[in-house]
Amino acid sequence: MVQVLGINMSHYSAACLFRDGRLIAAIPEERLNRIKFSAAFPERAISKVLEIGGVHPSEIDQVAIGTRCEMFDSTLAQRGEYRKTTRMVSLLSQILPVRVVESDWLKQFYIHTLGAVRRYQFMSRYLDFFTSMGIPRSKLVYYDHHTCHAAAAYFMSPWRTRTLIMTADGNGDGDCGTVWMGEGESLECKLRIPSIHSLGGLVSRTTKFMGMAPWQDEYKVMGLAPWGDRKKAGPVVERFRKMWEVDGLGYRNRCGYAGDALVEYLRRTFKNIRFDHLAYGIQTILEEILSEWVSRNATHYQIGQLAASGGVFLNVKANKRIMELAQIDTAFWFPAAGDDSITIGAGILGTLAIQKKQNRPAFVAPMTDTYWAEDITPLIDPYLDHEDLTGFRVIRPENIDDLTAGILAEGEIVARCSGRMEFGPRALGNRSILADPSCLDNIHRLNAMIKCRDFWMPFAGTVLDTASDRYLRNPKRFPSPYMILSFDTLPETRRSITAATHQADGTIRPQILTESMNPGYYRVIRRFEELTGIGAVLNTSLNLHGDPVVNLPGEAMHVMRKSALNFLALGSCLIAKDNEETRVILSRLTPAG
Ligand SMILES: [Fe+2]
Repeated sequence: MVQVLGINMSHYSAACLFRDGRLIAAIPEERLNRIKFSAAFPERAISKVLEIGGVHPSEIDQVAIGTRCEMFDSTLAQRGEYRKTTRMVSLLSQILPVRVVESDWLKQFYIHTLGAVRRYQFMSRYLDFFTSMGIPRSKLVYYDHHTCHAAAAYFMSPWRTRTLIMTADGNGDGDCGTVWMGEGESLECKLRIPSIHSLGGLVSRTTKFMGMAPWQDEYKVMGLAPWGDRKKAGPVVERFRKMWEVDGLGYRNRCGYAGDALVEYLRRTFKNIRFDHLAYGIQTILEEILSEWVSRNATHYQIGQLAASGGVFLNVKANKRIMELAQIDTAFWFPAAGDDSITIGAGILGTLAIQKKQNRPAFVAPMTDTYWAEDITPLIDPYLDHEDLTGFRVIRPENIDDLTAGILAEGEIVARCSGRMEFGPRALGNRSILADPSCLDNIHRLNAMIKCRDFWMPFAGTVLDTASDRYLRNPKRFPSPYMILSFDTLPETRRSITAATHQADGTIRPQILTESMNPGYYRVIRRFEELTGIGAVLNTSLNLHGDPVVNLPGEAMHVMRKSALNFLALGSCLIAKDNEETRVILSRLTPAG
């Protein structure tokens, strides 16, 4: 048996467990320590994945650490280590020519000196943690950041035939983008793009310049972009085109600035530009460069099968443009494309290394869903037995999924907390808040009740596979099980799903759901379709504004208590606030009223 623990502690820390090439469990630290975007050492996540897998730490063959330099655990971040790095990049970009900053020797210097310091700090801090568990130092192995991104994209994809693999992010171990060829069980690196040219860095610095949080709020800039005026934003786009460009089979930074120096450059360049035009400009240039970069590589390598990962590929609009390229026949985006994918990639690389060492055939199983946390079903009854539920009613219906659909069809909003929690940024039905997508007012109700989103941000939706042709334009029949791709909607049916579309351009970021991926959730929507004729629901993550997504029953109930949500489908039970509104609805839907 080959058992590997994968960990990451850069921007988004997490742990996973692979057994004989199969992903057994994975969970981000933020869902356990309840600090959103936690970069803390994933101590709780490690314990949890070992517990889910029923593995004693001493049985682990390797701890695969998904970086050689980027160990921004929360303690280091508090000490400003991360800020020191970005200040250094900013300074270098101001005093040295690009050809020096992009040089391989500088990157090697960065990896070998700064990396050595960070690995030393890491070891002095956490070696005791591993040895006390029975994991010796010899089992701790470091892997390159972008190799981890590439491994997650390719080995979690459905293919082992010749595949173009591309990664793009802000920075990881000195690179910001890579191109690979995958075939069988092997990866071959074709190109690495040094961090000075970071497209993710450009987007993040623009996000910061716009007054939002870099490395976090880029999706808000993407959501704002369609509200910009194409004509008026034209000069902004032209200016961005002069700053960054596709170059050969890579892309490059023409302005030469990085880090905070780039923020200052943006401030000088885009003085007095409206925020929505700026969002339009950066989104346009991102889509242009990313799609042109993919297009050139697909043409050069004569390959239309793409696997992608890295934070830049979280941009669902850019992914849509890639999907529409003539050169691309099929594509897989690892759904947790940010640095959560590093955890999975490290676990895969560790697995392949141990399989090779033990003369076993190389094998990694493709992913089929993202439900990788612990199953909360056995925790629900003990929780309800001991919880003070004054003010709530607990109903145990014959079928919770049918009752959930019934409440949705009555126009009510329902939270669903069931089974194993999703890995990655998207709630895919097990930790979701659901609503009727045909009711535009649900956007305002959700924001008033719980979500408090910026006024321009859209909600997403889940569409049954059997209904997707009714609502979406998808000529290449791309699967979209993970909400990492957006589609145009059909004008004639858009009204039915309007609250789950972007109000400015009518696109949707759908989870196209198959029954095998989540039978219970599928039944909810199918029953909702029987009742209303709509084969889709609005789906947004189950969390309070600013909190990580809910994991445990108690956290779901905390959301109920702190918000205006009335209904929670918790496993096979329905928890309802005991008020006039819920009594009226339940009297219509349940025999006991
Ligand atoms: Fe990354």
